Amino acid sequence: MSAPPVLSPFATSALIDIPFKMSSPAAPAIRTVDKEGKEITTVGFQRFGFDCEVPLDVVRALYLRPHYVITAPTSNDATELDTREDEQHARFTQGLSAYQSKSIFHPETQSISYTTLSRFPPVKLLPPSNRKRVLVTGGAGFVGSHLVDRLMLLGHEVTVIDNFFTGSKTSVSHWVGHPNFELVRHDVVEPFMIECDQIYHLACPASPPHYQFNAVKTVKTSFMGTLNMLGLAKRTRARFLISSTSEVYGDPEVHPQHEDYWGHVNPIGPRACYDEGKRVAETLTYGFHRQDGVDVRVARIFNTYGPRMNPYDGRVVSNFIVQALRGEDITVYGDGKQTRSFQYIHDLVDGLIALMNSGETRPVNIGNGDEFTILEFAELVRDIVARVQTEDGEPPKRRVQIIHGPMPTDDPQKRRPDTTRAKKELDWQPRWTVAMGLEEMVRYYKAKMAEGSL
Ligand SMILES: NC(=O)c1ccc[n+]([C@@H]2O[C@H](COP(=O)([O-])OP(=O)(O)OC[C@H]3O[C@@H](n4cnc5c(N)ncnc54)[C@H](O)[C@@H]3O)[C@@H](O)[C@H]2O)c1
Repeated sequence: MSAPPVLSPFATSALIDIPFKMSSPAAPAIRTVDKEGKEITTVGFQRFGFDCEVPLDVVRALYLRPHYVITAPTSNDATELDTREDEQHARFTQGLSAYQSKSIFHPETQSISYTTLSRFPPVKLLPPSNRKRVLVTGGAGFVGSHLVDRLMLLGHEVTVIDNFFTGSKTSVSHWVGHPNFELVRHDVVEPFMIECDQIYHLACPASPPHYQFNAVKTVKTSFMGTLNMLGLAKRTRARFLISSTSEVYGDPEVHPQHEDYWGHVNPIGPRACYDEGKRVAETLTYGFHRQDGVDVRVARIFNTYGPRMNPYDGRVVSNFIVQALRGEDITVYGDGKQTRSFQYIHDLVDGLIALMNSGETRPVNIGNGDEFTILEFAELVRDIVARVQTEDGEPPKRRVQIIHGPMPTDDPQKRRPDTTRAKKELDWQPRWTVAMGLEEMVRYYKAKMAEGSL
């Protein structure tokens, strides 16, 4: 038998000749260029004496490649399925995706059988002196799962603790069973004991509907969760990084916001549980730093978007994309003149890893300074969705309109990071244009829709 041709993991031709119906088409190749027009082939960087670069294709294959699902033949001919399915899976998963999991959908019983991975994605083999034991709280969430992918690929031992309030096991399921990985269901408001070298403390719902769902619990998570994790850092002498937020600046009176600005926050409004929760979490962090010498890092994260974002949590990027993909009108709150800056997830993960491994203990803004009005952003999403649909041979049936809804309470009018400190101290700056990130995200949601999981 001749060897099968080597295909890009995103090549649509991988599906040719497969007689079973695939639940979703494979994603096409995407050429990604940075702000200067240079092709992006890796994420991560080489700085601070270590190399944390990973090929973009490898990272992308963890989220962008559609799950391999075949529909079982209705003839009940299990023998035919068994023999041909293995052969087809082998063809589908060539090259980088040799570790692609597979599932069989049984239409007669409307059930699906999952198969565990036969091989994990390759991870770096680090000498014990370089291999860190890393705890990621909230590691099953949007940001956490991308950080976990990166830390795993870099060869570290990663433990995720998460209560799955907004996160999901599926976002890290591709690592479950890996010798370097552990997933623990745990709520950070309760103490947690583990030996570790670094703690990325991300656990906290981040979108307004989720953090307002139970405001008291959000404050509790921010305060008690951070207290517990700082206590753990103190005992283990682990380096502690907290994911704070641009919301600590509230509705800012200075523009763009630099780290020395103290903020303008409504302490009793509907967003206060999150904004004030993060502010007190920062206060606690610096309390432990000054009193107990805990080695701390504070990342003030600005609006971030990317694959695995919950499409129903009311955040502007996912709202717009899902509405446009469904051919529904895009809803803009207010007149749409309020501005936002949007950062792509890979830039944020680079920033978090750079901060953790730097000597900077002051707060650091991590965000993309490219500012858009919400209206401009809605138009960009509409154009990208229409282009991707047209490229995939399914042009939109009608031009999506932009409609206006009432403005939510305390929604800040302007937000843009001053990232001078990140640039100077971490040699970090965002590489992804909003359009490039949006295109990946549109393809991700589109594949999820085709799969039936959105
Ligand atoms: N995404 C952004 O644009 C953004 C912006 C600023 C700051 N942040 C911060 O980054 C972090 C991650 O945000 P995200 O966008 O990934 O949100 P997310 O909701 O997707 O992830 C949060 C994770 O924390 C878990 N969690 C929540 N409460 C918990 C608890 N009490 N115990 C254990 N686990 C708990 C959730 O189940 C989820 O997996 C948050 O701290 C957020 O405040 C995010």
